[in-house]
Amino acid sequence: MKWRSLTILFFSFFVILFTQCKIDPEIISGEEWVYDPTPYAVMSPMGIPNVPTTNGNPLTAKGVELGRYLFYDPILSADSTLSCAGCHNVNHAFSDTVKFSIGIDGIAGKRNAMPIFNLGFQPYDNGFFWDGRATTLEDQVLMPIQDPVEMHEILPNVITKLSRSDIYPKMFYEAFGESTITADLTGKALAQFVKSLLAGNAKFDSVVAGFAFFTDDELAGYLSFEALDGGDCFHCHGVNGGLFSDYIYRNNGIDLAHRYFDFADAGYGLITGDTSDYGKFKTPSLRNIELTAPYMHDGRFATLEEVLDYYSEGVNDTPFTDNFMQFAFQGGVQLDATEKAQLIAFLKTLTDHTLKDNPIYQNPFEED
Ligand code: HEC
Ligand code: HEC
Repeated sequence: MKWRSLTILFFSFFVILFTQCKIDPEIISGEEWVYDPTPYAVMSPMGIPNVPTTNGNPLTAKGVELGRYLFYDPILSADSTLSCAGCHNVNHAFSDTVKFSIGIDGIAGKRNAMPIFNLGFQPYDNGFFWDGRATTLEDQVLMPIQDPVEMHEILPNVITKLSRSDIYPKMFYEAFGESTITADLTGKALAQFVKSLLAGNAKFDSVVAGFAFFTDDELAGYLSFEALDGGDCFHCHGVNGGLFSDYIYRNNGIDLAHRYFDFADAGYGLITGDTSDYGKFKTPSLRNIELTAPYMHDGRFATLEEVLDYYSEGVNDTPFTDNFMQFAFQGGVQLDATEKAQLIAFLKTLTDHTLKDNPIYQNPFEED
């Protein structure tokens, strides 16, 4: 009898011991971790739609915040020196100021770093990058990490580094209710932050809302932007619900290529494999264009003046040039100096001056 109760006691001890040993994040950290799926509830700035496409990855407050940490953390690169923000600078609508950004091995890429904002509104099947090679943003955000001319890291190392960190295991748990960090969740968090980058709030939006007026030059520039016999920009960069792009892949004639193998960079054509798509690139939004020089997929134009000279007189009429470049036969839309200056004055009304100081977009590691 005595032995029997001792045995029971002995086994109960092990039962208690084993239940206690179960990996439980709350006990390991000594503090309570709570999964918190509260939706991200920040109103869109004036002039753009309200709810970005979530593509099965709904924005939550904790997910976006985790994404912001990851975006600004050089830990994602192989030598922990370069973060996403190293090439996507908040002061320049999340683009880079150089033609080709330099990756961690000192090697320059072959394309200009794109501004990133309002991407949650882009039709989701249009793809990301200048050539659309990433199908979703969740896929896209993991690609610069692995790109040899960018952050040059392998995903298993990223996961190991994040799992060892003091802050990330808890942040992943709070955002996703998972105590194991995975590449999939890392992509989801980064994509949530990227989708939270919204630009509106420009002078143009105040004019539309009736709070402000264009100057005479801005108004003339706007009318020219919208006119077939003016700048004729609207077919591709049309206001389109405030987005200033249709996000379609087009060839705006910047390369003098008469045969498909003449292109220095074939862009979208290499992705679709269709030679008629050679030299097409994603039509960029013209919001914040004042902040995102240099311009085009290869950063060939340093200023908006050079861009306007191009559309006015420099367009190449090739078999690949888009039909909407309807004045390509005469080299472009033929604007005089005043008309070019007016168009530029209008383009500058598309700048969101509140973006760079918005606290929700800043580097969380530099906050006091
Ligand atoms: C070394 C510079 C560099 C770094 C670091 C970098 N990017 Fe980029 N990013 C680029 C360039 C260059 C492109 C355009 C590349 C192309 O089209 O081939 C780009 C394109 C993008 C796009 C596509 C935008 C669109 O409109 O389709 C997104 C989104 C993006 N980057 C997010 C990120 C995120 C998130 C990180 C960090 C994980 C990151 N980038 C790190 C240079 C960089
Ligand atoms: C046929 C469609 C089309 C028309 C019309 C058009 N564009 Fe573009 N635009 C594009 C495409 C496509 C690109 C990207 C090309 C590339 O990088 O190779 C582009 C790029 C630009 C850029 C550089 C953006 C960046 O982020 O680097 C600016 C600025 C621009 N266009 C302004 C204009 C203006 C101003 C007009 C009217 C005078 C105009 N565009 C007419 C399709 C068009």
